[in-house]
Amino acid sequence: MIVCLCRRISDRDIRSQVASGVSNFELLQDETGVASACGCCHDCAREVFDAAMLKSGACQGGGCQVAVSPVVMYRS
Ligand code: FES
Repeated sequence: MIVCLCRRISDRDIRSQVASGVSNFELLQDETGVASACGCCHDCAREVFDAAMLKSGACQGGGCQVAVSPVVMYRS
């Protein structure tokens, strides 16, 4: 899936960057240019990045910048 149309960056590209050691979103932007043109993709790019960080185990707490959104479930 293409995440950033301006820079043509996919979710796979973001996961690959995380696997290569990119450990914060600003560095990801420096390396790929994602979310650095129009900015429309910022939230989506951030979600993909955060998920990749969690999956990689790179987020061990402390200095990690990953913010986990609370999940709220409703029953009717
Ligand atoms: S769509 Fe990513 S910067 Fe424009």
